[in-house]
Amino acid sequence: MPLVTLAEVLQEADAKGYAVGAFNCNNMEIVQAIIGAAEAEGAPVIIQASQGAIKYAGLDYITSLVRTAAAGTRVPVVLHLDHGTDFEQVLRCLRAGFTSVMIDGSKYPLEENIALTRRVVEIAHAMGASVEGELGRIGGTEDHVSVSEREATMTVPEEAARFVAETGVDALAVAIGTAHGRYKGKPQLDFERLAAIDGLINTPIVLHGSSGVPDEDIRRAVALGVRKINIDTDIRIAFVEAMRRALADNPEEIDPRKVLGPARDAAASVIRHKMRVFGSAGRLYNSIPG
Ligand code: G3H
Ligand code: 13P
Ligand code: ZN
Repeated sequence: MPLVTLAEVLQEADAKGYAVGAFNCNNMEIVQAIIGAAEAEGAPVIIQASQGAIKYAGLDYITSLVRTAAAGTRVPVVLHLDHGTDFEQVLRCLRAGFTSVMIDGSKYPLEENIALTRRVVEIAHAMGASVEGELGRIGGTEDHVSVSEREATMTVPEEAARFVAETGVDALAVAIGTAHGRYKGKPQLDFERLAAIDGLINTPIVLHGSSGVPDEDIRRAVALGVRKINIDTDIRIAFVEAMRRALADNPEEIDPRKVLGPARDAAASVIRHKMRVFGSAGRLYNSIPG
């Protein structure tokens, strides 16, 4: 079926109390792994591409791959731009047919973030697409910041209420202690802050940096209002480790399919597990094409 919007899948998830997985893709095998997992689990899914993924694969390739994946399935699929920081890039994605974009203005002061995000919302909504904004700064696990510095980057609940009211975003990414990349220790999520944000806004909440977060913490975050969960690193780990294993088992192998095939399978099984934890497995519904 044709691609659907982020607003639609998150509205459905919010009504039923689960979260939809947003999985990063960079190539055909990862798109196939995501769609194969969604079909096997009967789960609505968000396939997202970062600006880096678009630079690597090309906007036309990413769009065509995901459109093709969606066309051949009964699973609702959203094509989403992850961490769009460049206004022109956001426009190019909307023109190419993305049904959702993230405008990440988190590096700007609140007023500027609101102004930039509102501008994107006006354009995207006029084109029938959805928008995710970000408030607070979600760093990387490699960022060497102290606990108090990390705290200072977290989302302030009252500012979240103002941000969603003034921008009209369809989803809000919050900083509550997760980080992008591989964690060194156990991630410490600020569930009180999440509950406070959820108490003040009706907009679906997005959790970034969710790879490596224990399943029980993910379930707790979903119970507290998280409706979109971003996963990239866990896919990368599964994919590349399977490639390494295939090459180690057969160092003479020269057929890329013998290396990439097992990588695709390994990524799909990680994604299937996530879908069960997020509660999106077995949640097919009658979607409205975007
Ligand atoms: O949040 C970042 C995502 O994992 C995308 O990473 O910019 O290396 O594609 P990337
Ligand atoms: P991880 O790579 O930590 O899973 O984060 C993904 C993400 O937040 C993409 O926006
Ligand atoms: Zn992110």
